[in-house]
Amino acid sequence: VVRDQILDRAALHPGDVLLDVGAGDGLIGFGAVERVSPGGRVIFSDVSADLMEVCRGLARSLGVDERCGFVIAGAEDLAPLDPLSVDVVTTRAVLIYVHSKPTAFAEFFRVLRPGGRISVYEPINRLMFPEPRGQFWGYDVGPIRDLADKVKASWNDDPERDSTLMDFDERDLFDYAEDAGFGEIHLELRREVTGRHEPTSWEAFVATSPNPLAPSQGEVIGRALDTVEQLRFETYLRPLVEAGVRTRRRTVAHLWAQKPS
Ligand SMILES: C[S@@+](CC[C@H](N)C(=O)[O-])C[C@H]1O[C@@H](n2cnc3c(N)ncnc32)[C@H](O)[C@@H]1O
Repeated sequence: VVRDQILDRAALHPGDVLLDVGAGDGLIGFGAVERVSPGGRVIFSDVSADLMEVCRGLARSLGVDERCGFVIAGAEDLAPLDPLSVDVVTTRAVLIYVHSKPTAFAEFFRVLRPGGRISVYEPINRLMFPEPRGQFWGYDVGPIRDLADKVKASWNDDPERDSTLMDFDERDLFDYAEDAGFGEIHLELRREVTGRHEPTSWEAFVATSPNPLAPSQGEVIGRALDTVEQLRFETYLRPLVEAGVRTRRRTVAHLWAQKPS
């Protein structure tokens, strides 16, 4: 659904060249191949050479490799791509890892032809954390709120808080697009709290981290609480995690825009 939304708003036409920045294993790019056919191409780009090999292998096995290109490049430096060489730039959950987001937008603008489009979809972590008091990763922890507060405070002290994951919100994205020179700009922010039923083992829960740059849940709990507190925390939370009744908070921004013709 998200993939279709990102591609729909990129207004793809047969013959278009689409660049997917931070393509990962190709979720967005492979969804675009048929949409730009006949005549179009999809260029997968990522900082990870391994992931580009994964995409190359997948393209071969899908029989679409002649309609695909693979580029190892960071969003802030798309030097392998010529100016005015693509019709569409897509990116999903990538700018959260990028240090200079304005530079990335300037690069998107540079490689796009006049009239070219961007479709950018990013989580807005700043609007997801901190959770309301009495909730911890979506679990209702009212009776151990004091301990949950300590663990959350430890998250707040984490250097990652000021990292690329948290250093922007949807208004920044809009400004970056405008400052880069994009003309028509649209932004949609979606915030949701939804009920979930996701039974999880305690071991899996403590091993989880919210993103690859962050410490694990267990590390933060160990740092924030003494051993007696840790026991009290686990005794209360473990059954809730194993039962899996929780809420999920999600905030995402989708920005789509056009370079003036
Ligand atoms: C969460 S994954 C998203 C992958 C894909 N866009 C998707 O929606 O499935 C983030 C991707 O961004 C890539 N990445 C991280 N930093 C990057 C950067 N500075 N420039 C380009 N890609 C980057 C990672 O290698 C990874 O493939």
